[in-house]
Amino acid sequence: MKGLPHRILTAFLFSLVILTAVTIWLRNSDYYLLPLQERAFYPRYDQLKPSGIESHGYGIIGTAMVFIGVITYSTRKRVKRFSQIGKIRGFLEFHIFMCLLGPVLILYHTTLKFGGVAGAGFWCMSAVVASGVIGRYLYRHIPKNIEGKELSAKELDEERNRLLQTLKEKYGLGDTVVESLDKLHAPKADASDAGLLKLFSRMLVTDLAHTQRMHSLHTLLEKHHVDRSSIREIARIANERIVLQQRILLLEKIRGVFHYWHVIHLPFSLIVLAILIVHVGVAVAFGYTWIF
Ligand code: HEM
Ligand code: HEM
Repeated sequence: MKGLPHRILTAFLFSLVILTAVTIWLRNSDYYLLPLQERAFYPRYDQLKPSGIESHGYGIIGTAMVFIGVITYSTRKRVKRFSQIGKIRGFLEFHIFMCLLGPVLILYHTTLKFGGVAGAGFWCMSAVVASGVIGRYLYRHIPKNIEGKELSAKELDEERNRLLQTLKEKYGLGDTVVESLDKLHAPKADASDAGLLKLFSRMLVTDLAHTQRMHSLHTLLEKHHVDRSSIREIARIANERIVLQQRILLLEKIRGVFHYWHVIHLPFSLIVLAILIVHVGVAVAFGYTWIF
């Protein structure tokens, strides 16, 4: 799925996460905001305490969602036999959806009480979620082909040249126009010695300047009296060339950071798993078996 339908689906899934968070908050916030010593007197205490039918359910369903989100992505990514099923990007998006909605439910399972080992597990899980958001951003900046295989700087350069040929042959642009299009928002020097902060700020600036870049590309093309009916498409291609040039310059650095990013996202997931095994073991040993 590409373009508008894909954006609609992403927005729908994201809204579902927000809607769930808001609905449960509106339903139970009176309880969550009570001081701990007063909670036992709340009318629905038996359902809302972490071991109560409702909150315990949030914990079990949320944990199941995280498991499903991790196992499906990991299996698709690592097991060769499944490498032909769907696109890896779709599986990653499913991973993100399940692993955002799951933790929201787990948050309500804790009823905002973060005591003991389970509390530590909750904070580790939060670190995994926060690192996930950063990782997703980095992942987006590492160009991949349709099968999800990372592209090399050479392949990206070839793609830039292919786009250049389109501008010249299909739209008949001369060297002067192409040069001024390239110069308009040309990324500054390479980033091999840039620190983490500089790297992120360059990525953010490129992303946030999209509208402004498109506007100045349009204005420049109008100044060169380019055929009005083609301006939109030419500006899109010229913008793609500028973004690609930025990606090429930052590629090695982003790959390096992404490699270290796994050091947080993956091991912290394993810590959460270890704590969860103890937590669930203790809960079951004390007879908290939910509806079973
Ligand atoms: C990553 C997933 C989970 C996290 C981070 C988590 C975290 C927590 C936290 C912070 C508490 C409150 C501790 C306190 O009283 O201060 C709690 C309570 C509890 N959790 Fe979980 N939980 C998770 C999953 C589960 C699952 C899958 C079960 C199902 C067996 C479960 C069963 C319980 C029970 C029964 C309590 C109440 C314990 C009591 O009142 O003594 N939790 N959990
Ligand atoms: C509790 C929640 C989460 C857990 C336990 C979790 C766990 C994992 C695990 C184990 C992997 C590695 C899969 C593999 O390589 O086999 C992974 C990959 C990934 N996760 Fe998460 N994740 C969580 C939430 C998130 C969130 C909220 C995001 C984004 C917003 C995210 C973004 C990513 C990305 C981008 C990768 C891909 C890394 C790659 O393929 O190189 N994760 N996650």
